[in-house]
Amino acid sequence: TNSLIDLISLEKEKISTLFSFADLISENKLSFEKGFGKTGALLFFEASTRTRMSFETACARLGVYPLLLDGKAGTSLEKGETLEDTVLNVAAMKPSFLVVRSGDDLDLRDVARKLSMPVVNAGWGKVGHPTQALLDAYTIRKHLGTCEGQRVLIVGDVRHSRVAASHFELATKLGYEVALCGPKDFLPSTPTVKVFSSLKEGLEWASVAMALRVQLERHAIEYSLADYREQFGFTKKNLQSLSAQALIMHPGPINQGTELDSDILQDPRCQVLDQVSNGVFVRQALLHSILVEL
Ligand code: CP
Repeated sequence: TNSLIDLISLEKEKISTLFSFADLISENKLSFEKGFGKTGALLFFEASTRTRMSFETACARLGVYPLLLDGKAGTSLEKGETLEDTVLNVAAMKPSFLVVRSGDDLDLRDVARKLSMPVVNAGWGKVGHPTQALLDAYTIRKHLGTCEGQRVLIVGDVRHSRVAASHFELATKLGYEVALCGPKDFLPSTPTVKVFSSLKEGLEWASVAMALRVQLERHAIEYSLADYREQFGFTKKNLQSLSAQALIMHPGPINQGTELDSDILQDPRCQVLDQVSNGVFVRQALLHSILVEL
């Protein structure tokens, strides 16, 4: 099936086609055959604002009715049904595709294997968030012309980040380099990419600086948020080391005043809200490619 669970199996040519479609969508140059008369199931077992609403928007613009399961409350999970059984039961209603956000308590790969319909990973535990990495790459391509040869510095909580995990998969495919910076406890124990211990040096190297949300709830050691901001935060002072042509990104949600200061959102290099706009185009292109291949 046309599932998107990770980026390893997504061909480079397919990514290029998706991005070209996203370009046409963003320029209002693509008319869709409306009224597919189809449904798409959006199963969000974990909290989400951007991903959920951009998939809903993408469905609405494609004329596909989104069947939304928003959180576990009010579902039969409360009566003891398993997550997998919930997904299989919704799939039995024959939507055209499933979009799933879940924690590590669901094996999305196994679910996709059991179903004969496309399953799209909308953020799965720490495993990956492929559509986020795709929209990030699309944003980089839009502003810098190409992803090829870019130097992307990911700063912060890489160890718990499904966004970073998906960038590791996508970077080799699209030819950008990823490097890391953050407290030792936030980084992979055996990093496979360049690591900068100093944010200043990392920012001097980068053409894209991407901050990640600090997921303090997942750390055993207590960190001082003030120390984190001073050392690794995207503050006006720290970002002096980043070139004027570089991009500032964050997948959201942001802990303002910790990993990124609120005034940075007005920095001309900052693309945080453009990432969100591009997320709709990329997800719409992805769902469109699924629908036309059904
Ligand atoms: N970036 C992202 O996945 O945001 P949400 O959790 O709000 O969907």
